[in-house]
Amino acid sequence: MTTRLRRALYPLIACLAAVLLTSCSHGLQAAGAHSGRTLIFALDQAEDHPSYIALENFSERLEQATDGRWDVRVYPNASLGNQQETVQLVGDGSVDMTVASGTLLENLNDDFRTLGLPLIFDSVDDQMEVLSDDSLVGDLFSSLESSNHLTVLGGFTQGERHLYTRSGPIERPKDLAGMKVRVQESDLMINMLGSMGSSPTPLSYAEVYTAVQSGVLDGAENNLISYMTEGHNEVAKHVALTGHQIGTDYIVINSDVLGDMTEQDRRTFEREWQTTVEKHTELWLQRTDEAQDQAEEEGTEFTDVDEHAFRDALRTVLDGELQDPDVKELYERIRDHQQ
Ligand code: GCU
Repeated sequence: MTTRLRRALYPLIACLAAVLLTSCSHGLQAAGAHSGRTLIFALDQAEDHPSYIALENFSERLEQATDGRWDVRVYPNASLGNQQETVQLVGDGSVDMTVASGTLLENLNDDFRTLGLPLIFDSVDDQMEVLSDDSLVGDLFSSLESSNHLTVLGGFTQGERHLYTRSGPIERPKDLAGMKVRVQESDLMINMLGSMGSSPTPLSYAEVYTAVQSGVLDGAENNLISYMTEGHNEVAKHVALTGHQIGTDYIVINSDVLGDMTEQDRRTFEREWQTTVEKHTELWLQRTDEAQDQAEEEGTEFTDVDEHAFRDALRTVLDGELQDPDVKELYERIRDHQQ
């Protein structure tokens, strides 16, 4: 399905899926033709996005390694709803797993914002080491179990996020004066993009294309993969390489699901999951380079920004956040880990 068609059909598909899920919570599962259990995974990315590819691969390996007792069916393109909705569905058990951007979990437990701070990770590889270190993230990952019935299984990288606009180039924060830039629905992102000089406007992911295309917004910020898979390159031709955040997509699972597995299947599941995360990161880095080349071929202008100016702006946000002793404590442990 093309990006444009998908976008046009999104409300209809999400609505039908919601009806199906409410009227028959096992309806989607029953569609599978094998005797094992199929976990329903709701994803808001397209089929050419690394997360979809890695999750499909996870399903195949899991099915093989558990002799068909467990596999995963991934529903892409937000066909089961946007992240806000699917996190809710996972909590109440109608869907088993989904991806939630760090900004969304920040709204459920404020402590998640530490991992979304600007300048906290030096690279994607450092980020991934931190996200797989239980001594750093273990408490955070289990913190939503009693309140929301959600367990965080781990994180996929969102890579470096950059800024893109209809008009440009953008070299310094002052070039963004008066520009309305879409941000995810989070105080931290509003604060970051505001300090970088723009007028931040929270909006959901699926609505960005139309808002920028129509000129309601002047631009948005995201990684280069989403910039291409969502077709944002068609409507915002100027990318300023700000790298203002290395974002995280958390994979959340209903807290009962792992408990339904035998000890052996659970160990297999965790092992295959670890491999999936590694494969995702590899694919991510490769696809990011390809996305930049493709964007250039299709007419995007990339700008190397005044790094000091943007860094100073981000440093102000960081210093403000570090006033919170809990944020500071985890931030320092994560920084020490990277030295
Ligand atoms: C990235 C990220 C998504 C997120 C999106 C956004 O694509 O992977 O999880 O929803 O950015 O900007 O909303």
